[in-house]
Amino acid sequence: MYTDLAPWWPLLSPPEDYEEEAAEMARLLAAGPGDVRDVLELGSGGGHNAVHLSARFTVTLVDISADMLEVSRQLNPGSAHVQGDMRTVRLGRTFDAVFVHDAIEYMLDETDLRRAVDTAFVHCRPGGVALFAPDATREIFAPGTDHDGIDGSDGAAVRYLEWTWDPDPDDTHVRTEYVVLLRRSDGRVECVHETHSTGLFARATWLRVLSEAGFDAELVVEQTTEDRQPRDLFLARRPE
Ligand SMILES: C[S@@+](CC[C@H](N)C(=O)[O-])C[C@H]1O[C@@H](n2cnc3c(N)ncnc32)[C@H](O)[C@@H]1O
Repeated sequence: MYTDLAPWWPLLSPPEDYEEEAAEMARLLAAGPGDVRDVLELGSGGGHNAVHLSARFTVTLVDISADMLEVSRQLNPGSAHVQGDMRTVRLGRTFDAVFVHDAIEYMLDETDLRRAVDTAFVHCRPGGVALFAPDATREIFAPGTDHDGIDGSDGAAVRYLEWTWDPDPDDTHVRTEYVVLLRRSDGRVECVHETHSTGLFARATWLRVLSEAGFDAELVVEQTTEDRQPRDLFLARRPE
């Protein structure tokens, strides 16, 4: 999805769909003490949050996928883009705030979650905040199916089915099957099937991992009018 299918990302998950969520994230990111200007996003994907955040902040975008960064560059030409793994990347500077959206779900166990949290900590200035927005925690996870996708302006279009469940509630990841139909502008249609494993952690695990990394963290329930369950967000302050 984040390599060969990357050019389809704007039709799979359009930037307009992120507007309300990005406004909520911006509100929380700006809640840190002092002026919040420079924001680092880890796992920034197609830059669909960033396009909204950049109205308010200077945003630096890190993703492991060169193809997703290329998509994001088209949408966010004014933002710095860096290829890197959120578990290991080191940019050699700090930011007023660090944001990790749904990409945090690719941390499948506590070891990798801790590495991503450590990366956020070292890039957060003393007194700054880090905000983590997993799609779910263990407490609010519900198996389910969804479908979406939109038409592009040139006849290209995407429709997909997403089916998520938890094969083993005793481990820290769940499984999602995607079936994606890609219609090219010449009318040819291709079907792609992918399986994704994504991490799922209890609230207490999140708060412990954040605390062990050095953050003062709290759980904040997202404010949203969207027709879905509000997310559990983790707002973490790096002490002065
Ligand atoms: C669901 S997409 C994120 C979409 C993003 N919220 C947006 O605004 O477009 C997940 C992203 O996580 C990235 N990713 C997965 N593992 C990563 C890692 N270890 N480090 C950095 N990025 C990672 C993928 O390349 C992909 O772009």
